[in-house]
Amino acid sequence: MKTQQMPSPVWHPFTQAKTAPPPLKVRRGNGIYLELEDGRNIVDCISSWWVNVHGHSQPEIAKAIYEQSQILEHVIFAGFTHDPAERLANEVLKYLPANLAKVFFSDNGTTAVEVAMKMAYQFWQNKDNKERVKFVNFDQGYHGETVGSMSLGKSTAFFKPFEKLLFETDSIPFPATWEGDKDVHLKEEESLSKLKSLFATQGQRYVAVIIEPLIQGAGGMRMCRIEFMQELEKLVHEYGILLIYDEVMTGFGRTGDWFACAKSKTRPDIICLSKGLTGGFLPLALTIATEEIYQSFYSDDIQKAFFHSHSYTGNPLACAAAYASIKLLNDMQNNFKDMAKLHQMFFQKWLGNCQFLEKLRYCGTILAFDVITDERTHYFNALGLTMRQAFLDEGLLIRPLGNTIYLMPPYCIRADELELIYKKTATVISKLLAA
Ligand SMILES: Cc1ncc(COP(=O)(O)O)c(C=O)c1O
Repeated sequence: MKTQQMPSPVWHPFTQAKTAPPPLKVRRGNGIYLELEDGRNIVDCISSWWVNVHGHSQPEIAKAIYEQSQILEHVIFAGFTHDPAERLANEVLKYLPANLAKVFFSDNGTTAVEVAMKMAYQFWQNKDNKERVKFVNFDQGYHGETVGSMSLGKSTAFFKPFEKLLFETDSIPFPATWEGDKDVHLKEEESLSKLKSLFATQGQRYVAVIIEPLIQGAGGMRMCRIEFMQELEKLVHEYGILLIYDEVMTGFGRTGDWFACAKSKTRPDIICLSKGLTGGFLPLALTIATEEIYQSFYSDDIQKAFFHSHSYTGNPLACAAAYASIKLLNDMQNNFKDMAKLHQMFFQKWLGNCQFLEKLRYCGTILAFDVITDERTHYFNALGLTMRQAFLDEGLLIRPLGNTIYLMPPYCIRADELELIYKKTATVISKLLAA
């Protein structure tokens, strides 16, 4: 007798369940590979949602979590502390600019940004500067999915239903650039002069400027130059406004250095970290601020405290995973520091002459390019889904962002494995676009 399959009760994120193909069931993850229930092995070319910097099921991180789980799994983080959190905070500060001093814990990239936003806002309130109520953000930026973080990254089309809920910001153009871009200086000048004129006319109104430094992720892997980051830092600080770096995606080696701030030699006042923090094992985020910001909350006045918490704030298992992950990153930092060369070499070899591509850009462990199409393809539209399916048919997990294809594999990938990804990517593109 034929048994009828019950629909799954699971509601998947970022998916139009009616039109999307059914989700693929994953049985196991190992390094760069995902083993599906149907027996197929696919290569995770994007480190899942950009989190698995070491690949899947990294044994040392698994061991660290197991060992910590036998000592202390969780405890309220107000009024209590523990070694895993203290150890992690001290460790992560070693890789950040010296002005960053105090580490606040939360659970994911969105909350890291929400915390940064509230922290920056209350900083001015605590200093009795009640006029500063507005944020400056960048066009096509993305900072997460709460109402606050959507407001800071509201150019994403997916936020349309919530438009009226979002608060107002002043947006400036992000000077996205690529190989051979002749207009980059003009674009940078335009961004900086727009910012300068906002500051000159209403500088006293601003809380902070928030940016995804060097690379806007979800906005399409749009990259800007180090020089722009340096000019931006100078300008924002000249006007005494706070600078927030959302390094949720760019952190932990993605830009080829530990952090985009290290690569650009710039110093934000607040930095947001998550994604690669635990190597993809557990949700955890850090928002790290300067001593000056912390001191504005440090007071006899209870109202000046930062009243923000989550039940799982500072979870010891996640802290143990993050500490183990950072130690591993330290041991194999040449992998992420050298990956850009491999990306460039294999791109040139397999896709360098492809007539359907433009706007090649790379930074550290990420390479991206746009596919030339008649219209800008939407993530959910036919071409987006066709491309994703075509990559899957070649055994690759690649999720184009509109017409942008990007590769950001785990750092444990071998050169021959990376080359195979490029070779297969070239096959998919020529099959789809030459047709
Ligand atoms: C730059 C940036 N900020 C924030 C977020 C939100 O992080 P999460 O999905 O962990 O909430 C993302 C996620 O893609 C991101 O890329």
